[in-house]
Amino acid sequence: MDSTKILLFFFLFNFLFVRYSFSEICSDSSCRIGEPMIRFPFQLQNLQPKSCGYPGFNLSCDASHQTVTELPNSGQFTVQAIDYRMQHIWLNDPDGCLPRRLLTFNLSGSPFSGYFDQSFSFFNCTFDYTKYKLNPIGCLSGQNYTVFASSSERAISFLASKCSLISTVDVPVQWSFPEQLETSDLSEDILLSWGTPQCGRCESRGGRCGLKSNSSADIECSYGTRRGLPRGARYAIIAGAGVPALLFLVGFVCCLCSKVKRFTGRRLPIVDTSAHLVPQTIITTRGLDGSTIESYPKMILGESRRLPKPINDSICSICLSEYKPMETLRSIPQCQHCFHADCVDQWLKLNASCPVCRKSPNSKCTSIDIQTS
Ligand SMILES: *[C@@H]1O[C@H](CO)[C@@H](O)[C@H](O)[C@H]1NC(C)=O
Ligand SMILES: *[C@@H]1O[C@H](CO)[C@@H](O)[C@H](O)[C@H]1NC(C)=O
Repeated sequence: MDSTKILLFFFLFNFLFVRYSFSEICSDSSCRIGEPMIRFPFQLQNLQPKSCGYPGFNLSCDASHQTVTELPNSGQFTVQAIDYRMQHIWLNDPDGCLPRRLLTFNLSGSPFSGYFDQSFSFFNCTFDYTKYKLNPIGCLSGQNYTVFASSSERAISFLASKCSLISTVDVPVQWSFPEQLETSDLSEDILLSWGTPQCGRCESRGGRCGLKSNSSADIECSYGTRRGLPRGARYAIIAGAGVPALLFLVGFVCCLCSKVKRFTGRRLPIVDTSAHLVPQTIITTRGLDGSTIESYPKMILGESRRLPKPINDSICSICLSEYKPMETLRSIPQCQHCFHADCVDQWLKLNASCPVCRKSPNSKCTSIDIQTS
């Protein structure tokens, strides 16, 4: 049993060594509880070493412990949420008047671009709008004038006949609904995405991205507890623990095989050793895969809890609880029904259909969803 002892020692050494170096390297951080978790490619100033982030992705915490980013040509924005797998970031105005910031919004010099850009025309109006179903931008309006923004052709031609045009700008909206509100107060977070560094696939597969050592631009994806270890140390661990472990495993399996063979006296099918190491789930899911679910539009509910037009329910029909500010919702694009993201993600993993209208979001899955009514 000597080999078992040696093996145990190597495993223990491996475990301790990994735990020790883990605390030294780039660990996730946030400005306070409830703020977005920050990790590569982002880096939180004063909380994480600069080398833990990709150039252009530095964030900081403001005086009220909100996560903020400084866009080179547009100034400071609060970071509302980050989706590392989709490579999405949601921003808002720390002073609570996002439309004002959108009038001069310019992403040049930043690593981000709009994901669903939509052109909005801003109008300065003096007519009595209360007769119409229009949604004014309060923070831009004054006592004697009201400001509206719209992307609908119909509303724009109506407003153009009555008001003066302030400007037409591209707004990185977070919803891809073709039918926007006639006019919008544009208070919802804006959605930006980034192309480089491409860590989305790595994150989706459970890995963690980081800069290659001695490089300022090349990234690498690592998995599990070996994340961030220097290459030399990794080789040492592989040689130190991996090789004896492999030899032991091969020996063990051979021994087992021959014993079982002798016992049963007939040939065994090929033994899949990986089945012993990785517990496999036998459940066959009838739902959608993670990346499809992730591709559905998501939004963080604002303080006003106002949902975009196609959705007017204030209750999530999966968990039957009311939507609260700052909760993340997700909609099914095919029918535009909306739910808590956590609820609908769980649902879609098991069922490839909308829980309300039973529309199948994925035509490939229609055959699976058999309705008995
Ligand atoms: C954005 O800023 C850059 C650099 O200042 C400038 O060259 C560009 O014209 C601006 N774009 C818009 C749409 O204003
Ligand atoms: C709208 O027009 C009024 C005058 O009618 C002007 O005082 C005000 O500054 C304008 N507001 C904007 C945002 O352009």
